[in-house]
Amino acid sequence: MWEAMERAGIARPQLSEQQVADIFAYLGGSSSGADKPGDATRGREIFEAKLCASCHDDPYQAPALHSKTGRTGAFSLISGLWNHGGGMLSRMVSRNLAWQTLSPEEVNNILAYLNAGK
Ligand code: HEC
Repeated sequence: MWEAMERAGIARPQLSEQQVADIFAYLGGSSSGADKPGDATRGREIFEAKLCASCHDDPYQAPALHSKTGRTGAFSLISGLWNHGGGMLSRMVSRNLAWQTLSPEEVNNILAYLNAGK
């Protein structure tokens, strides 16, 4: 998406948590799968396997995501990933890391892990 926006010369808009929630409602969003609480232990494994930990567990690389223990919801995570995605992508490219894909279930487990605060 970012490449397509860059090619079209469109500046990437910022999205607040509320705006993400509003888009979700507009798209007719249901909470499919999200009602089920994620697994924090699996979430920790995914956080490592998908390279998140390599940056976010090092205060010199990236902000710690655990400071938001109990307060990270799907909308705030999407807002954060969208607003900071460009910064993450450029750092991944400069470290020769491949951009990672996440399934809905993996996102749910990461959320459980971040909210568990360990
Ligand atoms: C190459 C290092 C790197 C990797 C890998 C990485 N991040 Fe980040 N992330 C950053 C940096 C640096 C920022 C702050 C970027 C900025 O402000 O431009 C950030 C910002 C974020 C934010 C926004 C935080 C806020 O304050 O709103 C979230 C959420 C996030 N990352 C989640 C993740 C997740 C989930 C993964 C794994 C799937 C991940 N990141 C992988 C470096 C990384």
